[in-house]
Amino acid sequence: MAEIIDGKKISQDIKDEVRDEIKEQGISACLAVIIVGEDPASQVYVKNKKTACEYCGIRSLSYELPENTSEKDLTELIEKLNSDDTVDGILVQLPLPKHINEDNIIEAIDPGKDVDGFSRRSVGALSIGTDGFVSCTPAGVIELLKRSGVEIAGKECVIMGRSNIVGKPMAMLMLRENATVTVVHSKTRHIEEICKRADILIVAIGRPRMITEDYVKDGAVVIDVGIHRIDPEKNNGKKLCGDVDYEDVEPVASYITPVPGGVGPMTIAMLMKNVLKAAKDR
Ligand code: GUN
Repeated sequence: MAEIIDGKKISQDIKDEVRDEIKEQGISACLAVIIVGEDPASQVYVKNKKTACEYCGIRSLSYELPENTSEKDLTELIEKLNSDDTVDGILVQLPLPKHINEDNIIEAIDPGKDVDGFSRRSVGALSIGTDGFVSCTPAGVIELLKRSGVEIAGKECVIMGRSNIVGKPMAMLMLRENATVTVVHSKTRHIEEICKRADILIVAIGRPRMITEDYVKDGAVVIDVGIHRIDPEKNNGKKLCGDVDYEDVEPVASYITPVPGGVGPMTIAMLMKNVLKAAKDR
């Protein structure tokens, strides 16, 4: 029987800490959120980010641009926000429409306002261990582990997935916490064998319920970054699942994150923390 890591509660604690600090120190913080096009999932994420800002006492500016917005027009908006002293953080919701180069857009954001931690400067700072913004989802995983009392130093950590948003920064953060880190991906051979060595297994592969107990050592800590919509009629009324087959893995793990209510709510809580950092650093 695993202990369930309650991401809903931990993310609420973090938002409360941000809210208290903003209130007690009279900090004024502002996040500009840009969305291009009408992807329904992105619209929900952006709405949730604005709601969290309101809760924490952070002002939020919202730019909802049409699908056919040009890269030039988007860049000009970012430059305007870069030079606006009342704006602390700028977030461009990804993915962007295909005709816009995401890399160019991320690099257009002032590194001091890059609250997503996606820019080259932020990634470089993380990689050499200097101060900077850290990508919200992996930073949230570290908070979940620490606030649940999981020791990281000296542990074997296996990360499944190598994306720029989760896998790669996750590896850097676990190294910073003195874990021994292995990253596995679609081309890795003997993947089950490697995962079974992990004291801490972090799964971000984007495949519903792929990870069964065959991948998990007895007593391992299992963190599930995946989230997928599923048909409730075929899944005992459940609408969402992760990359981990929860029912199969839970009996062998020592700690596990549920989906929903595990890693998901942490991303926005860490974004609020990054906006507060941006406001304090400026
Ligand atoms: N799309 C999916 N996750 C994210 C995120 O963390 N930040 C942004 N900007 N876009 C995303």
